Amino acid sequence: MTTRDAAWTNLKNAAVAARDPIAGLFAIEPERMERMVVEAAGLRIDLSKQPWSLGDLDTALTLARACEVEAARNRLWAGERVNASEGRAALHMALRAPDGADFKADGVPVSREVETTRDAMRAFAQAVRSGARTGATGKPFKSIVHIGIGGSDLGPRLIWEALRPLEPQIELRFAANVDPSETALALAGLDPAQTLVVVVSKSFTTHETLANALVVRAWLRAALGQAGDAHLVAVSAAPQTAQAFGVPAEQVFGFWDWVGGRYSIWSAVGLSCAIGLGYDVFQRLLAGGAAMDEHFKRTPLMLNAPVLLALAHVFNRDGLDRPVRAVIPYAARLRLFPSFLQQLEMESNGKRTDTQGRPVARATAASVFGDAGTNGQHAFFQMLHQGTDVIPVDFVAAATSSEGDPANHTILLANVIAQAEALMVGRSEADVRAELAAQGLSGAEMDVLAPQRTFPGDRPSSFILMQALTPEDLGALIALHEHKVFVEGVLWGINSFDQWGVELGKTLATRILAELEGGAPGVHDPSTADLVARLKL
Ligand code: F6P
Repeated sequence: MTTRDAAWTNLKNAAVAARDPIAGLFAIEPERMERMVVEAAGLRIDLSKQPWSLGDLDTALTLARACEVEAARNRLWAGERVNASEGRAALHMALRAPDGADFKADGVPVSREVETTRDAMRAFAQAVRSGARTGATGKPFKSIVHIGIGGSDLGPRLIWEALRPLEPQIELRFAANVDPSETALALAGLDPAQTLVVVVSKSFTTHETLANALVVRAWLRAALGQAGDAHLVAVSAAPQTAQAFGVPAEQVFGFWDWVGGRYSIWSAVGLSCAIGLGYDVFQRLLAGGAAMDEHFKRTPLMLNAPVLLALAHVFNRDGLDRPVRAVIPYAARLRLFPSFLQQLEMESNGKRTDTQGRPVARATAASVFGDAGTNGQHAFFQMLHQGTDVIPVDFVAAATSSEGDPANHTILLANVIAQAEALMVGRSEADVRAELAAQGLSGAEMDVLAPQRTFPGDRPSSFILMQALTPEDLGALIALHEHKVFVEGVLWGINSFDQWGVELGKTLATRILAELEGGAPGVHDPSTADLVARLKL
């Protein structure tokens, strides 16, 4: 057995060994808060309500050491080809590093090019916002339609909703889904003469994005003629293809193959947000991400927030066989954070083979779901408290709010604290019975009702506290999860930066589209053949 295998076995044994309920561990582990609450880049991450003892935490840290997390982190930073199946580095940290950094991707310096692109973004964003850059008829831009999907959509959508001004000077609309309703809704009520269209696609081959871009280009041309193409902007690692589509060369912003789509919000993929929010706000987002990079790179494992969060998640996922995790931001503006994390975590780590092509020895990414609190409390929290499965929760909250009624923010905070406590502490049957007895229920009535009103408790959660939903804290929150995902990938021995699992569906959709459009029928199982026959034009 390798050291690594032994460390995994120890983690599993530790997780399944009998232990006190989480709530009871505080009394017997006086150092629990000190060891399990860390601060990183302005965030406070409390892992003390996780189902591990201090001894378990040490066992988990031994696993991290056995899996050589620090060496892997060094390889990531050195720009080595950590995305081996695609022969690429993964250097999203270079995108948010301050000017003067010296990143190299596979030995090739990249930081100057990053800075040049950032300068071009800044100049373009400022020109659009100031009105110096106008549309084809000379009018200033009032709206942006951002077209892209997956990593070219989820990050920008999250950032915009999280940070958008209450009364934006420039409104952003998003079109990701190829469902024609999406572009119809995105364009509804907009004036083409005052609309900038930003097409974001790393590959510039994604079917949905190109189909939507064609629709929106036609909308521009119908109103403005060929001059409408001047309203097109593209962000892509394939700039020539974007130009061939009709985007003016000076409005094509590049990024690089060492930027994974789901790690790309820090690049020109964030251009729509940089225009809509102002470049200074975008810069602050980058600064928050860079601060988390510094923390992840320099902090010892036992105090390292991404490492500890990864270990807590792995302890639940592998140690305790918990395949689902809920992420509940108690911030309406972070409603989209769970969707963003779905791609970041499930596309990165939803893998069944290791980097050598062997079956992975243990379960990888958990399914992530969630919605904003308090809304979720009135939808799926019933199951979190009393369902047959234990679903660990990550709560995210901001200590202060700068908008709306402060009293309501206090109510919001009371709820998130209460939910975390309720999940852990639960409510005993004896307690429920005492209450029911006081209400005069008979013994028989109590036998029926008390178990239904009992909360088992001992349900784990993490609590990530931001000071406020600032660009810096949001940047740190996203980068925290990017690095957490990386650490998990190292522990599992998988490549967190490829996504071969999305290819088969794309290939089949291309073939089936040809059949739906009147091409010769393909060879299918009876169910698929029936659907094609029913739905063809
Ligand atoms: O669905 C797979 C995927 O390649 C994602 O990884 C990516 O974020 C998305 O499609 C969009 O890709 P592109 O930016 O190349 O259009």
